[in-house]
Amino acid sequence: MTTTISPLIAGNWKMNGTRGALDELQALADMLTTGEAPRAIVVVCPPATMLAAVARQGATSGIQAGGQDCHAAASGAHTGDIAAGMLADAGAQYVIVGHSERRADHGETDDQVRAKAEAAIGAGLKPIICVGETEAQRDSGQADSVVASQLAGSVPDAAGQHEVIVAYEPVWAIGTGRTPTNDDIASMHASIRRQLVDRFGDKGQVIRILYGGSLKPQNAREILAVEHVNGGLVGGASLLAKDFYTIISAV
Ligand code: PGA
Repeated sequence: MTTTISPLIAGNWKMNGTRGALDELQALADMLTTGEAPRAIVVVCPPATMLAAVARQGATSGIQAGGQDCHAAASGAHTGDIAAGMLADAGAQYVIVGHSERRADHGETDDQVRAKAEAAIGAGLKPIICVGETEAQRDSGQADSVVASQLAGSVPDAAGQHEVIVAYEPVWAIGTGRTPTNDDIASMHASIRRQLVDRFGDKGQVIRILYGGSLKPQNAREILAVEHVNGGLVGGASLLAKDFYTIISAV
C-alpha cells in the first residue's frame, strides 16, 4: 500500500438491510471504538432507505456514510431516482458510481457513470468510481484494455481538482469467492496508477485505488498489502460486523 495515501475501506450493503441492520452497525461501531483505532477511513454504503439512519448512528464512531448510486441530474422528473444532493442532505459523504451491477442491470455506460461522478462532486460528495473486466474479457486477454477504457470514460476531468476514488472490481470476483492472484491485482493497480498519473499528474499519485471482489477476513491482509491497493470495497463481508471489522483491522 502506498504510504502517503490514507487507506479507506468501504462496505457496500447492496440491496440488503432493513432497520434491524442498525444493530450490526452498532456492533461495528462498538468494535471500532473499543479496539485499537482503525488505520483506515471506514465508510458504509447502505440502501438509500437506511442512509440517514446510518449517517446519524455512524457519526459517533467515525463511520461515514455513502450512497450506492446517484442520478446525474440535480432534480427533476426521474421517478425512483435519487440526486447526489439528496444523498448529501441525508448525511452521505461518498457515493458509489458505475458499480458493475449497475452497468449490467441498468445498462449504464461510461458516459453516464462520468456524469454521475460529476454530479456527485458538484454535490460535495466523493464518488467511488468502479471499473473491472468480466471473466470472458480477462480470458481473452482484454482485462487491461477494458479497464483502461472504462477509466478514461468514467473518471471526470474534475478528478484533477476534487477528491475521487477508483475501485477496481473484476466482475468475475464479485460475490463468487474467487479473487485474482496478488500479482494480477498488483499489475492492474499499477496500470490504473500509471493512467491516473498520465492524466492528472501529481494528483494522480494520490487518488485512492480500492480493490473489490470477494475481499474477506481470510484474504484481506495479503490483498490490502499489495502495492497501489489503497483500501477495499467490500460487499458480502461488510454485512457482518465481525467480518467487516476484521477486514478493517487488516489494514
Ligand atoms: P463482494 O462484492 O465483496 O461481495 O464480492 C464487492 C462489490 O460488489 O463491491
